[in-house]
Amino acid sequence: MDYPTSARNFLIYAFTLVLLMFLPSCQYEFIEEDAPDPNKEYSFKDDILPIFEAKSCTSCHRSGSTYPDLTPTNAYNSIVPNLVNLSNPESSKIYSYPHPATTTHGFQKYSTAQANIILEWIKQGAINN
Ligand code: HEC
Repeated sequence: MDYPTSARNFLIYAFTLVLLMFLPSCQYEFIEEDAPDPNKEYSFKDDILPIFEAKSCTSCHRSGSTYPDLTPTNAYNSIVPNLVNLSNPESSKIYSYPHPATTTHGFQKYSTAQANIILEWIKQGAINN
């Protein structure tokens, strides 16, 4: 199809403009969907215990059964300090053992988001808050 020069120039101009508008969306944004909120202080009671409930960890890990006891009353003393390594949080057993990438604990695992919350809580000092 033959356009007059001015019309063709306009089309080229418009096309370039649209292209430029979309360019910024090509930039990478390092927002990890499952990443914990770095500005939030994680609470053992409100953030950690509900994970043990939601994942039915307590169906096996309860008083008189398999260690660690993850029921609300006993969970903290069962986990800290034995299963937590404050100087190397990633190696904490309460984080690594039921991690979604592990093959050792075949019973029940965290979701990636849950594992990240556990890790963040440990990094923040594994406090009984
Ligand atoms: C179906 C039963 C069952 C469920 C559900 C279960 N576990 Fe376990 N877990 C076990 C058994 C049995 C062991 C010990 C044998 C082994 O090491 O695999 C164990 C071991 C562990 C250990 C290692 C303890 C140590 O000192 O070696 C951790 C930590 C743990 N479980 C956490 C969890 C968490 C957190 C959940 C929930 C996401 C969970 N488990 C769900 C049965 C279960």
